[in-house]
Amino acid sequence: MAYAAFRSIGAYAPSKILTNEELSAMVDTSDDWITKRTGIKERRIAAKDETTSDMGVKAALKALERSGIEKSEIDMVICATISPDYFCMPSTAAIIATKLGIKNATAFDISAACTGFVYILSIAKAFIESGMKRNILIIGAEKLSAITDYTDRGTCILFGDGAGAAVISATEDKDEAIIDVHTGADGEYADLLMTPNGGSGSAHDALEGEAAGCFMQMKGNETFKVAVRTLTKDVVDILATNNIASSEIKHFVPHQANYRIIKAVGDALELKEEQVVLTVHKYGNTSGASIPMAINEIYENGKLLKGELMLLDAFGGGLTWGSALVPFSPLK
Ligand code: ACO
Repeated sequence: MAYAAFRSIGAYAPSKILTNEELSAMVDTSDDWITKRTGIKERRIAAKDETTSDMGVKAALKALERSGIEKSEIDMVICATISPDYFCMPSTAAIIATKLGIKNATAFDISAACTGFVYILSIAKAFIESGMKRNILIIGAEKLSAITDYTDRGTCILFGDGAGAAVISATEDKDEAIIDVHTGADGEYADLLMTPNGGSGSAHDALEGEAAGCFMQMKGNETFKVAVRTLTKDVVDILATNNIASSEIKHFVPHQANYRIIKAVGDALELKEEQVVLTVHKYGNTSGASIPMAINEIYENGKLLKGELMLLDAFGGGLTWGSALVPFSPLK
């Protein structure tokens, strides 16, 4: 049987930094409030003409180069995004594949908001284990600044732009294999976090003149409570199912939405500070890009070594959630 191995990671963050001080000049907020309530100090903002696919390509090039797998061997490209280059079509994954020179691979996007990267990891794992594909490029890429309302202090302080990518490939060695991925969703909570206009769910005449409805809206406090509950249950479940103790996790890589959420989940699992990967202070919430950007951070700092076990945990609009137990299994 083929197993799926997590071979490599890459990420890209735009150079423009938007600080809390700069946001304080745009809306009624302060560095002190944002830091205390979220842990965020700054976030990155893509250039006007820089698209989600442009960022995805930069992250993917790094992941490919580090993977030891040729572009010509990639047989599937999946992108997790809620800020695609184009509404509906073509998919951002198809654009990324073409910009990379990957020909004839299956390419598609998925929409699971901040849980997107865990969802595409589970899809890649399933396709490889079924024998249908062997080398899959997965990308989480977001230009959230394009769908953020910079007059709404409840959301604009949270979000940033960026991309992360990984190569997942087939192995016969069970020790290299992704151990498990759990995903779930509950549309009962859809209204907690949404872009209300712009789809078939909105009246057509509402589209004209109501561009603001295409921006993200969030009931932050309610979302916060569901997030802590769901994220904690999710990681407790995946560890119990696989009979793994939290002390065996080398790197806990949670979705980077809010330091207080990460701290609550980390405490519930009795994780030590050095087990928890944090990038929320420098990138804010980059939705589907957040987990691969955080993995890249430990990789580039020399902290992610062959065989080390990562626990991924995400939560986002939908509502969606997911967790994964992933050993790092580079080929080189
Ligand atoms: N600056 C100053 N004051 C503010 C700001 C701000 N930026 N935003 C809200 N406030 C005020 C509110 O108006 C409120 O004032 P009031 O008490 O006078 O009414 C007060 O601060 C408290 O507001 P809350 O919303 O209760 O603040 P909270 O502590 O919950 O923090 C936050 C808000 C940061 C949004 C938090 O709720 C959160 O992180 N939520 C979860 C986000 C998340 O995980 N989303 C899912 C992933 S995102 C995705 O899928 C795309």
